[in-house]
Amino acid sequence: MQGSADLNLWRLSVAPMMAWTDRHCRHFHRLITRHTRLYTEMMTTAALVHGDVAKHLRHEAAVESPTALQIGGSEPDEMAHAARLALKWSYDEVNLNCGCPSERVQRGAFGACLMNEAGLVADGVKAMLDAVGGQIPVSVKHRIGIDRLERYGFLRDFVGTVAQAGCKVFIVHARNAWLQGLSPKENREIPPLRYEMVHQLKSEFPNLTIAINGGITTAQAVDHHLQRVDGVMVGRAAYHDPMLMADWDTRFWGAGDARDGRYGPEGLVSDDWRLQIEQHMVAYIERETAEHATPWAHAATHILGLWNGRPGARAWRRVWSDHRLKDRPVAEVFALATRARRAAVPASKDAPV
Ligand SMILES: Cc1cc2nc3c(=O)[nH]c(=O)nc-3n(C[C@H](O)[C@H](O)[C@H](O)COP(=O)(O)O)c2cc1C
Repeated sequence: MQGSADLNLWRLSVAPMMAWTDRHCRHFHRLITRHTRLYTEMMTTAALVHGDVAKHLRHEAAVESPTALQIGGSEPDEMAHAARLALKWSYDEVNLNCGCPSERVQRGAFGACLMNEAGLVADGVKAMLDAVGGQIPVSVKHRIGIDRLERYGFLRDFVGTVAQAGCKVFIVHARNAWLQGLSPKENREIPPLRYEMVHQLKSEFPNLTIAINGGITTAQAVDHHLQRVDGVMVGRAAYHDPMLMADWDTRFWGAGDARDGRYGPEGLVSDDWRLQIEQHMVAYIERETAEHATPWAHAATHILGLWNGRPGARAWRRVWSDHRLKDRPVAEVFALATRARRAAVPASKDAPV
């Protein structure tokens, strides 16, 4: 396997997910995978133009990088402004959302309905590229179509038009967005996945970077798609079962060593490593609470899948999600969670904490 420097930057990424992939979540994911590209939640350009920019964009760039800022908007000037902010706040990419089907987003005339406005997306992309002057890439995340429009030609023309404006990276959620009658959640489940359309896109545009997204939940499936497209983006599976990412650096980025303490004797992710990650998150949360008055639950909510599949996981999770503990110091919650987990594992060999 080649070293990570030789691989394309979009080979593997964690999807933008509203209310999930905030900076705390990204900090956590970065402890598990050093190289995988991480995406922020979508920030609207209106929030970036009129709102509290520091609140929306503050992150620990040096720790978290490579990270892409995803924006949602439809005014090229505002998109350019957002792209300049992405650069200023040390994000490694700015990504335009053309896939979100929510009603709120449709009222703002952006998200998935922009797939009907390829010319406007092209203008926005051009404005963003001019704004960042080639210093960071501009990418677009979109669906394969909208409503019942299932012609490959629609997808090809959208990508072709936007590519002409200079966009070289497309991340394609391989299902349509149905703009009427489905909630955003249903829109991630009901329209059928049609991976072959994304594979075809790559054959037709070999010089573009095409990443595929939607319903990809195993390393084997990632391997399968990487033979056909340049990258894979994983959303829900990575969030709910973060240890899915434990071998991504070695397996997909040609980095690290499988014997670096992550794995126990049977080749499974070791409990010691899980515990180290949890301890690191506790220290991080203590810092966050001290510096930004962040309640511990804001960050802890993202780690609830850490012990999935291990004995005591449920008891452990129950403590970390117990709102009655919200005023207690995080170190105390950690101690209670660890005790609850170990009580379910009488023969645990974990080091005492
Ligand atoms: C809770 C949640 C929030 C999401 N928010 C966004 C978002 O802000 N921007 C976006 O482009 N996609 C968003 N998505 C869609 C994901 O990025 C991804 O396209 C989708 O979940 C399909 O990938 P998966 O099957 O691997 O989860 C969201 C998905 C979830 C589950």
